[in-house]
Amino acid sequence: MSITELLNIKYPIFQGAMAQISHYQLAAAVSEAGGLGIIASGGMTGEQLREEIRELRKLTDKPFAVNVMLMMKNIKEIVTVIIEEKVPVVTTGAGTPKFIMPYLKDAGIKVIPVIASVKHAQKMQELGVDAVIAEGSEAGGHIGETNTMALIPQIVDSVDIPVIAAGGVADGRGLAAAFVLGAQGVQMGTIFLASEECPIAAAYKDAIVAANDTATAVTGRIAGAPVRCIRNEMTDHYIELENKGTNRNELEEITIGSLSKAVYEGDTVHGSMMSGQIAGLVKKIRPCKEILDTIVADAQKVLQNTEIKL
Ligand SMILES: Cc1cc2nc3c(=O)[nH]c(=O)nc-3n(C[C@H](O)[C@H](O)[C@H](O)COP(=O)(O)O)c2cc1C
Repeated sequence: MSITELLNIKYPIFQGAMAQISHYQLAAAVSEAGGLGIIASGGMTGEQLREEIRELRKLTDKPFAVNVMLMMKNIKEIVTVIIEEKVPVVTTGAGTPKFIMPYLKDAGIKVIPVIASVKHAQKMQELGVDAVIAEGSEAGGHIGETNTMALIPQIVDSVDIPVIAAGGVADGRGLAAAFVLGAQGVQMGTIFLASEECPIAAAYKDAIVAANDTATAVTGRIAGAPVRCIRNEMTDHYIELENKGTNRNELEEITIGSLSKAVYEGDTVHGSMMSGQIAGLVKKIRPCKEILDTIVADAQKVLQNTEIKL
C-alpha cells in the first residue's frame, strides 16, 4: 500500500515538525493542500495541544499528524490528548516510541518515527511502526551523521515498510530523486519556513530566502547534539567556544531561548534560525498550496521527461 493510501492523503509530502513553529496554522494549510501537516507538540502542555488540534480542525477536515519528542517530561499527558482527540497519525523523535506504542496502536493511530540510521530503522520496524522518516544531515534542526543521498537507499534496502525521505528536498527534482532512491514520499521543513502560513517573524523568513548554499552551520557537534542553523553571530560564537573546549553548561547558556528569539522576535543576530542546507534553493515566500502543487507537477515532469541516456 502506498503512503498516500495508508494515510489517506493526496500528495506524498509531509511538512516536518518544527518545535515552536509548526502550529495549527501551518499544519492545517499543508493538510488542506493535500500533504500531511504536522503539529509539533514539543514545549506544549496537553491542553495547549488540545487547543491546537481543535483550531486545526476548524480549518481542515483532512488527515494531519502530531509530532512527539519522546524525552518530553509530559509525554503521558500529550499521548492522552492525542488519543482523546483521535489524531490519525503520530510522528516521533528523540528516542524510541516503544513505551507509547501499545496505547497508540490500540487507538488505531499510525506511528511514523524519524530515524537517521539503518539500525534504528530496523528497530522501529520490529516495534511494528507503519513507516519511517529517514532524515539526512542536510536537514534543518537536530541532525544525524549521514546525508540523504547515502542514507535513503540504505534504509530502503533494510526494511519492508514505507520510507519517507527528509533533508535537502525543496523542489520537484528533490521529490523525484527521493522516489528514484526508493522512498515513497518526502518530509520537508525548511521550505515551509518560507510559506505565507508559517507563523514566524518576517526577518527569519527573509533570512531563509536570502540564504545561499553555504549559509548554514552546525553547532553542538562536539557535545554530540548537532543542530543546523543559518550562520550568524550566535553560531560563530558558539562554534568558536566549542572549538576551545568550553564546557557544556557554558555552551548551553548561549542557546537557551535562542530559537524563541528567532521565531518570535525575528532576532537574526542572536537567535537560532534553524534551517536546512536547501535554504539556498528557496527564493520566495509562497502559500503552502502553491509550494505543494508546484513540487508535485515539477516532479512528474522530471520523471516523465528525463532525457538522460547512459
Ligand atoms: C526550524 C526547524 C525546526 C525543527 N524542529 C523539529 C522538531 O521539533 N522535531 C522534529 O522531529 N524535527 C524537527 N525539524 C526537522 C524537520 O521536521 C524536517 O525533518 C527537516 O526540516 C527536513 O529537512 P529540510 O530542512 O532540509 O527540509 C526541524 C527543522 C527545522 C528547519
